[in-house]
Formats: sequence, C-alpha cells, structure tokens
Amino acid sequence: MEYKRILLKLSGEALMGDRQYGIDPKRLSEYAKEIKQVVDKGIEVAIVIGGGNIFRGVAGASNGMDRVQGDHMGMLATCINGLALQSALEAEDVITRLQTAIEIKEIAEPYIKRKAIRHLEKGRVVIFGGGTGNPYFTTDTAAVLRAIEISADAILKGTRVDGIYTADPEKNADAVKYENITFKEVIQKGLKVMDMTAFTLSEENKLPIIVFDMNTNGNLMRLVSGENIGTVVNN
Ligand code: GTP
Repeated sequence: MEYKRILLKLSGEALMGDRQYGIDPKRLSEYAKEIKQVVDKGIEVAIVIGGGNIFRGVAGASNGMDRVQGDHMGMLATCINGLALQSALEAEDVITRLQTAIEIKEIAEPYIKRKAIRHLEKGRVVIFGGGTGNPYFTTDTAAVLRAIEISADAILKGTRVDGIYTADPEKNADAVKYENITFKEVIQKGLKVMDMTAFTLSEENKLPIIVFDMNTNGNLMRLVSGENIGTVVNN
C-alpha cells in the first residue's frame, strides 16, 4: 500500500512510558521524532490521541461517577495530550495545528474538516483532540471517523504489540501473528482490534486499519515505506 495521508492513532497510555499515569517527556519526544521522519518524507499526517493516561470515563463510571461526566473528563484529557504532543512536535520543528471536537477556542482551533484538510495539504500535522465530542464514543471511533472525513488512506493504530495475533501474545506463547486479515475474520474469530463501533465504521467505509508496534524506533517510517510490519485489516 502506498500512503499519502495517514491517520495515526496513539493511545494515551502509550505516553506514560514507564510511569503509572501522566506523560513521560522522553516517550513524547521519541514519538515526535518518529512522526517528523514521515512528515519529512512528504506524507500527510493527522493524529488522534487517547486520554487514558489521565482519565478514563469508563473507569470513572465503575467507581460510581456519572458516565457522561466521566467521558467529558476523558475528552479534556485527550486535549491535554494533544497540547503535549503539539509542543513536542514543535520542538522538532514540525508545524502542527490542534483542532478539538469540543470548543475551547482560546486554547485550540475548533474542528473544521475543510480547514483540517487544508492544513494537511500544507504539510502541517493536524492533531484532533476531544474524541468525537460525544460521550459513549471511544477515541478509536474518533480516529476512524476523522480518518474517513479527511479521506486518509489508512488508520495506523500504534500499540505495544506488533500486530494482531491468533491469541493474546502477552499471555500465550503459541500465538501466531496475522500479516493480513479481513474485518469479517476478526469478528468471526472474536479478536480484539478496536471496539465494535469503531471497527464496523471502518469496515463500512472500507478504511484499512493497520496495527503495529509504535514503540520500536523507526517502525512508523518502515510501515509507511511499505515494509510488512504489523497486521493489515481490510475488506
Ligand atoms: P492558513 O489559513 O493556511 O493560513 O492557516 P493558519 O492556521 O496558519 O491560519 P489561521 O490564521 O487560521 O491560524 C493562525 C494561528 O492561529 C494558527 O496557529 C492556528 O492554530 C491558530 N488558530 C486559528 N484559529 C484558532 C482558534 O479558533 N483558536 C485558537 N486557540 N487558535 C486558533
């Protein structure tokens, strides 16, 4: 696959590095360097980042908090991560724009699809904060939604593992990695890639999902250069 415009999905937890919560500046700066490499190659990059390193609505709800209230806190958490990532990218001289699904316009631009595309065309990295702007939707769903809206070639889901396995590779030594798998197979086999809302949105819109290990230096670049790392999910 040749990539011209990608949507990179990063989890909030990934930003913790070795910490228990919050943001590890070293990890953040490593990510910024990885992203810079692909931007310098002329690839248009949009990013959706989670907020689980700061707050998870679901966790709040299980502790008796109102779910909607918790999800709003989670949305703010993704904006905090977005600001951090923006700073880290700017430290690498990457031009960025942060757009948020909930208006906080003193801090960031509101999400406007046409503006986002214009920024990408000008070679700016666009970070989408605030998830979809709605409770009950994950940042994976936001990533798929934004990827479809901006006509990204694929959604690159950076994780701790290097792809989708027949079983959880962290628990099962016999697990085998798929290079390619269809959306239908993922569902039939009960494999976990994204939550169902995100996953079916991607399937219906024929948007490939590539799961790869973002924590190995140079992997993002290898992937966009066409190397077969990770697992590709498509129709
Ligand atoms: P062009 O239209 O291509 O020139 O894009 P631009 O983003 O450079 O132009 P614009 O004048 O829209 O933005 C200039 C700066 O202001 C950029 O850093 C934007 O991120 C920022 N900016 C634009 N709109 C808003 C907003 O509503 N809120 C905040 N906080 N910043 C904004």
